[in-house]
Amino acid sequence: MKKIALLMVAFVALNSCDNQYESNKNQAKKMETTDVKDTHSYAQFDKAYTTHLFLDLEADFENKVLKGIAAHTIQNNNASKIIFDSKGLVIEKVVTNDEGKEVEFTLGKNDELLGQPLTVSISPKTTRVEIHYSTKPSSEAVQWLSPQQTADKTHPFLFTQGQAILTRSWIPTQDSPGNKITYSARFKVPDSLTAVMSAKTTSHKNGEFEFEMNQPIPCYLIALAIGNLEYKSLGARSGVYAEPSMMEASYKEFEDLEKMIDAAENLYGPYVWEQYDVIVLPPSFPFGGMENPRLTFATPTIIAGDKSLTSLIAHELAHSWSGNLATNSTWDDFWLNEGFTVYFEGRIVEELYGKDYADMLSLLSYQGLLAELEELPKEDTRLKLSTEGRSPDVGMTAIAYDKGCFMLKMIEENVGREKFDNFLKTYFEHFKFKNLNTEEFLTYINKELPEVQQLNLKEWIYKPGLPSNCPKIVSDKFEKVEANFASKAYLNTPESTKDWTTHEWLHFIGNIDSSWSVSDFQSADNQYNFTNSTNSEIAAAWFEKSIRANYNRVYPSLEKFLVKVGRRKFLTPLYRAMKESNNLEKARAIYFRARSNYHFVSTNTMDELLNFNQ
Ligand code: BES
Ligand code: ZN
Repeated sequence: MKKIALLMVAFVALNSCDNQYESNKNQAKKMETTDVKDTHSYAQFDKAYTTHLFLDLEADFENKVLKGIAAHTIQNNNASKIIFDSKGLVIEKVVTNDEGKEVEFTLGKNDELLGQPLTVSISPKTTRVEIHYSTKPSSEAVQWLSPQQTADKTHPFLFTQGQAILTRSWIPTQDSPGNKITYSARFKVPDSLTAVMSAKTTSHKNGEFEFEMNQPIPCYLIALAIGNLEYKSLGARSGVYAEPSMMEASYKEFEDLEKMIDAAENLYGPYVWEQYDVIVLPPSFPFGGMENPRLTFATPTIIAGDKSLTSLIAHELAHSWSGNLATNSTWDDFWLNEGFTVYFEGRIVEELYGKDYADMLSLLSYQGLLAELEELPKEDTRLKLSTEGRSPDVGMTAIAYDKGCFMLKMIEENVGREKFDNFLKTYFEHFKFKNLNTEEFLTYINKELPEVQQLNLKEWIYKPGLPSNCPKIVSDKFEKVEANFASKAYLNTPESTKDWTTHEWLHFIGNIDSSWSVSDFQSADNQYNFTNSTNSEIAAAWFEKSIRANYNRVYPSLEKFLVKVGRRKFLTPLYRAMKESNNLEKARAIYFRARSNYHFVSTNTMDELLNFNQ
C-alpha cells in the first residue's frame, strides 16, 4: 500500500511539469500493434514503443546546443528495456516513473549512418521514460545560422530537418516512420526570437513557447524553426511566416494557398490538420519544401515574383494526405509518400491553373525520369527499394517521385478518373493516421479496384525500368517551344517568345545539346540574360548547360548563387557538371567558400561528390 502511494507521488511529481501532456490521455491507445521491421532504426517495437513525446528544451544560440528533456510515454509490452535511436547526443541521465529515479542506460556502438542505440532499463510497469540530454553544435538535423546567413542579417536563426533519419540527431526517439506518436513541447528561446513547430502554438510569452500536436505523426515530421519571424494570415486557415524583409514577396507569392487547400479537399476529402501555414526559411534550407504538419518548411528560391514555382507548395500541401495521413512504413516504401504526392500535386495544379499547365509539369518530370533511368543502378529503379545498410537518401530519386506518379496516372487512364478518384479518397480515409508498406498497398488496391489486376502493377513495383504501359504526355505548348528552338525564331523574332512562362523556358533550356557553341550561348544570353535570371529554376538549368559547354561567362553569377543557396537539388547538378567538365578545381574553390552556408544534408552529399575532407 505504502509502496503504491509512493509510486503515485513520484508519478505526479514527474508529470507536474507538462500539463499539456496530462491533458493528452490517449497514451496507451494505439490503433494497431507495431510489428514494423525497419532496418534504419534500432527500436524493437514488439517490446516497447513511444505513444507520446513531451519535449522541454532550451535553445542556447551562443553555444549552439539544445538542452533539456525528452519525456516518452510508452506502450510497454512487459519489457525490461526500451531502445531509442540517438546520434551525436549527450545523454546526461534517464529517469522513469516506476522508480521515480535514475535508471541504467547504455549507448551502444556508433554507426556512421544509424548512430547509437540508447537502451534504457525499464520494468514491465514503466509507462514513462524521461531522457535528460543535449545536442552538440554538429547535430545533423539542426542548422544554426548566424545573422549574416539570414535574409535580414539582424538575428540568428535555427531550423531542423528530420526526414529521413535525422530526428535522432536532435531528439532521442524511435526514429522510424512506422510508429506514430503525438507530441507536445516547451521551448525557451532568446527574447527577441519566435519559435514555431509542426504543431499548434498553445502559448507564447517572453521567449517561452508551448506547442501541441494531438494527431499521431511519424517522428520525422517533428520540426522546429526559431528566428526573427513575422506572421501574416492568407485566409481562414492559412498564412505565412517569414523574416520581415521577405514577408511582402512571400505573401504575394503564396496568394493562392487557400484555393489550393479547397481544391485538395474537393479532390480527396477534408484537410484534417486544421491550419496550413508555410514558413519561408533562409536560403540554406537543403530542400525545396518539407511537409511538416500544419507548417510546411520552404526554400526562398521558389519566390520568383510570378507564382511560377508554387506548384511546390501544392506538393507539400498534398503530403497532408499522402505521407502525413497515409505514411510509408519504411523508407523502402518511400514511393508511397512521394509518388502519390506528385500525382496529387498535378491534380491540384490542374484544378487551379488548367490542364496545359499540369501537362507541362508532367512532361518535365517525365524527361527527368528518363534521364535518371539512364544513370541509376538498375536495382534502384524499382518502386520498392532495398536500402538496408544504405542511407534512405538513395531513394530520393525520380523513381519514387515520377515513376510512382506515372504508375498512378496509368491506373487513372485505365480505370477512368472518376473511379480512381473515388479509390484515392477511400484510400486516404482508410489509412489515415496509419502506416502501410508496398505489399499492403497492393493487397488494398487489388481488392478495392480489381481492374488493376490487368495492369502489371507488380512489374512497375518490383522490376527495374519503365513498363511499356507508361502513359505518354503531349504538350502543345512544348511542341511550339521545340519548333521555335529548331528554327531559331527566339533569336530572329524574339517576340515569338513573349508569352512563354517559366516552364516553357525550362523546356527551351532542356533542349540545348552539345551542338551549341559558346557563341550560341552568348547570343541567347544577349537576348534573354539567362545568366542573371532571378528565377532559380531557370538560372540553375542555364548554369548547368553553360558549365558543360565551357560558357564561362556564367561563373560570377554561378558562384554567387552557390554561395547563397544551399538547396541540394541545385547544388548536385551544378557541382557535378563542373566536376565532369574538367573544372573540379573551380568547383572545389567555390565549395570552400560556400560550405559553411550549407546544412548537413547538402554537405554530406557534396563532400562525397567533391572528395572534400575537413
Ligand atoms: N518530403 C520531401 C523532402 C524529403 C524527402 C526530405 C526525403 C528528406 C528525405 C518533400 O516533400 C519534397 O519532395 N520536396 C521536393 C519538392 C517537390 C516539389 C518535388 C524538394 O525539396 O525538392
Ligand atoms: Zn514530397
